[in-house]
Amino acid sequence: MATTTDVDLAEIDIMDMKWFADGAPHDLFARMRAEAPVRWNTLPSGAGFWSVTRHADVSAISRDTETFSSYEGGIFLDPDHIFPLDVTRNLLLYMDPPQHTKYRKILQTAFVPATVNALEDGVRARVTKTIDAFIERGEADFAQDVAIPIPLAVLTELMGVPEEDIPKFAEWTEQIEVASRSVKGDAIPTLMEMSGYLHQQIERQIAEGTTDSLVMRLRNAEVEGEKLTDPEILVFFGLLAFAGNDTTRNTTATGFLELLRHPEALAALKADPSIIPVAVEEILRYTTVVQWFARTVTKDVELGGQQLKAGDKVVMWYTSASRDEDVFEDPQTFDIQRVKPDHKAFGGGGRHFCLGAGLARLEIRVILEEVIRRLDDVELAGDFKRVPNNWANGLEHLPIRFKPGAREAA
Ligand code: HEM
Repeated sequence: MATTTDVDLAEIDIMDMKWFADGAPHDLFARMRAEAPVRWNTLPSGAGFWSVTRHADVSAISRDTETFSSYEGGIFLDPDHIFPLDVTRNLLLYMDPPQHTKYRKILQTAFVPATVNALEDGVRARVTKTIDAFIERGEADFAQDVAIPIPLAVLTELMGVPEEDIPKFAEWTEQIEVASRSVKGDAIPTLMEMSGYLHQQIERQIAEGTTDSLVMRLRNAEVEGEKLTDPEILVFFGLLAFAGNDTTRNTTATGFLELLRHPEALAALKADPSIIPVAVEEILRYTTVVQWFARTVTKDVELGGQQLKAGDKVVMWYTSASRDEDVFEDPQTFDIQRVKPDHKAFGGGGRHFCLGAGLARLEIRVILEEVIRRLDDVELAGDFKRVPNNWANGLEHLPIRFKPGAREAA
C-alpha cells in the first residue's frame, strides 16, 4: 500500500479517515505544503474543494472575508452539516461583515481580559476539586476525569446553569459532537431541547434579579445603541456549547499526551511552573485541535498559482499551517521553549479569530499548573483512544498512573 511519503498527491482524498487513524497525517501535509499547497481534492461524491495547507495562504483567506465567505456556504463542506444553514447563519462563526462586525462587538464585551481573568480563582477551585476526586487512587483517565469535565463546568457556570444540570449539558454536547462526526449529522432535536432549557434559565435569572452572569452581561451590553435580543443570546449560548467545550477539552487531553510522550518537558515544567504559559502556546500549536474550517469563494480569484472560481469551497488546514516550515523552525518538534509561536489553533486570524482564546488559555494553564504540581511520577498507563474524526483532534481516553497523593480541598 502507498504510504504518506510515496502516495500520489493528485490521487488522494485527504478527508479520508484512513489518513487520520493515528492523528493528523503530518508527513502528508508537509508534502502538500512543498508540492501542492493549493490543490483540488475530489470527494467520493464527485464534489470537491481546494485544500490549502500553507500558513500564509490560510492567513490570507481568513483575512479576506469579502472573497472567502463564511455566510455563503457555511464553514463545513456540507452547508447543512450538523444544523441546516438557515439555522447556523444566526451564529457568529457563520456571519460575514457587516453583520459579523456588529454582533462581534457586542459579544466581545463579555470576553474582555478583565472579565476572563476574574474567572481564574473559580477555575482553579474546580480543578482542585476534580483532582481531589481521584488523587488517592494513583490512577485516572485524564480525558474523562480532567479534560472533559472542567471546560464543561466552566462554560455551564458562565451560562448560569445550576451544578445539578451539568450532566444534561454533557449529554447535549456529546450528541452534537457525534452528529459532527457523521457526513449527514443532524443535531436539530438536541438544539431544540437545549434552546428550551436555556430559555428557562434566562427567565429564571431575570426573575431572580441576577446581574453578574454572562446572560445578564450580554442582555445589558450595548454597542452604538444596538442590543442583543433574548433569542440572539440563546443562539450565542448554543454556539459556546459547541465552540468552547470540545476544543478546550481536546487541547488539554492531546497536550497532556504530548507531555507524557516528552518526559523531559514534563520534568522541566514541574521544576519551573513559571514556564507553563509558554508551554501552553506550544501545546496549542502542536495539537491544533480544530484541524480545518471551510469558506466559500465569492468571486474568481488566484491563490497559490491556482484559479479559484466563485462558488468553490476552500478548506483551510490549520493543523498544517501550524507546522509550516516557512514560519517555524523544526516544526515537527514539540518544543515547550518556543516563544509565542504564530500558530493557527485559534483560526487563521482576522475577524473570526477565536473569541474564547483568553478563556481557553487560562483554563489550559490552570489545569496544567495544578495537575503538574500535585501529581508525582505521572506516566501513561495503557493505550489512549483517539476521537475518530478528521475535523477535531481529540482523545476519548488517556489512562495515567502516578504516586497516590492527598486531597487538598477544604
Ligand atoms: C483551545 C480551545 C479553543 C480552540 C482550539 C478554539 C478554536 C477556534 C477556531 C479555530 C475558531 C474559528 C476561527 C476562524 O474561523 O477564523 C474559533 C472561533 C470561536 N471560538 Fe474558539 N476555540 C477554543 C476555545 C473557545 C472558548 C473557550 C470559547 C468561548 C467560551 C470559544 C468561542 C469561540 C467563538 C464565539 C468563536 C467565533 C468567533 C467569530 O466567528 O467571530 N472558543 N475558535
